[in-house]
Amino acid sequence: MRGFILGIILTLLAVFGGAYYYATTGHFDTRAVGNTPSTLERSSAMKSLDAWVEGHAPKQPNPFQPTTDNIMDGSMTYDKNCALCHGSLKDPTSQMRTKFYPPVPQLMSNTPDDPDGNLFYVVKYGIRYTAMPGWDGVLSDDDIWKTVLFVKNSNQMKDNSKQSPQNPQPMDNPKQPPK
Ligand code: HEC
Repeated sequence: MRGFILGIILTLLAVFGGAYYYATTGHFDTRAVGNTPSTLERSSAMKSLDAWVEGHAPKQPNPFQPTTDNIMDGSMTYDKNCALCHGSLKDPTSQMRTKFYPPVPQLMSNTPDDPDGNLFYVVKYGIRYTAMPGWDGVLSDDDIWKTVLFVKNSNQMKDNSKQSPQNPQPMDNPKQPPK
C-alpha cells in the first residue's frame, strides 16, 4: 500500500514537474496573436463560465425600460468603453477581435440572447483568464444595466449606423430630440 501511494505521488510529481519545466523553459507559446483556444479548452471554459454565471447572476429583469433615452445612454457608455474590443454600430467587426486569447465576441453582429441579468453580471465582474475586464466601481450599476439594454437592442439601431455613434437617431420616437 505504501509503495502504491508513493508511486502515485511520484507520478504526479513527474507530470506536474514536467509541465512546469516545459512551460518555464520557453516551450510554451505565450502570444495572444496567432493562438486560438482548442475545442476542449473552449467548451470546458464556456461550460464553467455558464454554470458560474447561472448560479450567481441576479435573476431580476433589467430595471430600465428600453426607451430611446435609456438606450442612448447605454450606447454612449458602450462606445466609450466597449466598442474598441466588441465592435461598434459603425464598425461591427473590431480590428481587435482576433488580438486577444480567447478572441472577442462581436456584440453588434451577434446579439447575445442571455438574460439581461447574466450579461449584467459578466460586465460587472469580468471574465477570468480573458481580456474581458470587470467594470465594478468604474461604471455604476445603472450604467451597466443601460449598456446591456443597448447591446440587446442594438439590432434595431443598425439602420442608423451611418449616423455618428455619438448622435444616433432616436429609434422609433421622432418626438425625442437627439442628444
Ligand atoms: C479589452 C477588450 C474588452 C473590453 C474593453 C470589453 N470587453 Fe467584453 N469581452 C472581451 C472578451 C475577450 C470576451 C470573451 C471572453 C470569453 O471568451 O469568455 C468578452 C465578453 C463579453 C460579454 C459576454 C458575451 C457573451 O456572448 O456571453 C459581454 C456581454 C461583454 N463582454 C460586454 C462588454 C461590455 C458591455 C464592455 C464595456 C463596458 C466590454 N465588454 C468591454 C473583451 C473586452
